[in-house]
Amino acid sequence: MNQYLPDKVNINGEQFRVYLTEEEIQQRNKQLGQQISQDFKDKQPIFIGVLNGAFIFLADLMRYVTIPCEVDFLKLSSYGDEKVSSGQVHDLKNIDADIKGRHVILVEDIVDTGLSMNYLHKKLSQFAPDSLSIATMLHKHEATHHDVKIKYTGFKIPNLFVLGYGLDYAQEGRNLAQIYILEE
Ligand code: IMP
Repeated sequence: MNQYLPDKVNINGEQFRVYLTEEEIQQRNKQLGQQISQDFKDKQPIFIGVLNGAFIFLADLMRYVTIPCEVDFLKLSSYGDEKVSSGQVHDLKNIDADIKGRHVILVEDIVDTGLSMNYLHKKLSQFAPDSLSIATMLHKHEATHHDVKIKYTGFKIPNLFVLGYGLDYAQEGRNLAQIYILEE
């Protein structure tokens, strides 16, 4: 398979360089998949992916999970075409699954301020799941000021804009197989 793996990319006049390689990402996905398989043995968890950004991470992560599991998606408003959060969040699509009494793993591409995950944790808790854990591929830990308890983190990263592997800049770059960071 020929994946899209340039060393540098230029989007909207901004230059990005490789930050996490395909191999590093997949190695970490494998570790997380194994950990989740152990933690939820005999529990048949349901993964809930946050669209659009989490679709690639979730697809890869799930294939390292070796226990029975299910999947559903929801969608939140995004950054739009900006590189900073609007500070507002609203629903664009809700889940279809009934999660009452279920073990839910909420899967996000990146936790930045923590606003989205804080909001979603409160929202999904209302449906009375048996457990509700958060998994994120990336965590801009220095930028997080909302209360969020992340159980599974792929990588902690500095507070810089990133794209690729599902993450976009003005809707571009999601198809990059690696994660790229803005050149300062
Ligand atoms: P939060 O609500 O501030 O934690 O932001 C979470 C959402 O912002 C993520 O799901 C992404 O859609 C978006 N986001 C945050 N940082 C980045 C980034 O560096 N690149 C692309 N999207 C980002």
